[in-house]
Amino acid sequence: MDLLQGKTAIITGASSGIGVGIAKELAKEGANVVLAARSKAKLLEVEKEIKAEGNGKVVTAQTDVTNKQEIEILVKKAEEAFHHVDFLVNNAGQMLSAAVRSGKIEEWETMIDVNIKGMLFGIHAVLPTMLERSSGHIINIASVSGLEVTKVSTVYSATKFAVRAISTGLEKELARTGVRVTNISPGMVDTAISDVTSSNNDRKKLETQDIAKAVIYAVTQPDYVNVNEITVRPV
Ligand SMILES: NC(=O)c1ccc[n+]([C@@H]2O[C@H](COP(=O)([O-])OP(=O)(O)OC[C@H]3O[C@@H](n4cnc5c(N)ncnc54)[C@H](OP(=O)(O)O)[C@@H]3O)[C@@H](O)[C@H]2O)c1
Repeated sequence: MDLLQGKTAIITGASSGIGVGIAKELAKEGANVVLAARSKAKLLEVEKEIKAEGNGKVVTAQTDVTNKQEIEILVKKAEEAFHHVDFLVNNAGQMLSAAVRSGKIEEWETMIDVNIKGMLFGIHAVLPTMLERSSGHIINIASVSGLEVTKVSTVYSATKFAVRAISTGLEKELARTGVRVTNISPGMVDTAISDVTSSNNDRKKLETQDIAKAVIYAVTQPDYVNVNEITVRPV
């Protein structure tokens, strides 16, 4: 259970749902985890839970991923605590009113800012040091909505297509640098986001640990193996 001893991971959106699942699973494998989200109170709760399980070292950093400066401070805080960052998990995301006909422009802007710009700001903040060290791993949490579009998912899907596009291009940009890129596309996971989906899908939802295990799989491959794409759907 110590596959990631001495490794450090930043997880955005670590105050609830999939981000918590990923943080707990990484900590269980011995990684130091840096939990980022806007809700300080929820982050402290997650920190307490991870510590109670007796796993890893934990730092919290209240961060709005749409704010470049706050992301830079987050990465600095991680480096101060643990020297360098091995993994960045870009998980923070929002799914709001996504049909173009809904006309909810502010909600589209929020999704674009969090799901696309937040991810890019994170990558921008960790990449120079990863390139210097010829080592690092960026994990982007996309969605099956980045593979398919429905009449109610247009703008959300557009942001998740963008996540996949950025993952795909970045992998090519980073070939032979030692820095790896993994794009994970979850289907329906049992979290606050899927609670608000008016889907009549009767499949059993995935658990957050199911996505966390995909992250563990990607980051525990030998150095020369780059797992680029993982899609995880309920049966
Ligand atoms: N659940 C699903 O079925 C599903 C399926 C496919 C993909 N996904 C993707 O999985 C990721 C996690 O979603 P989830 O299902 O776990 O939803 P969730 O429980 O609502 O969690 C979303 C997380 O994102 C954080 N967040 C939102 N806006 C933020 C901002 N501006 N800055 C920093 N953090 C922010 C939230 O924390 P604060 O509010 O404290 O900031 C929270 O921790 C998202 O990218 C989502 O698109 C989910």
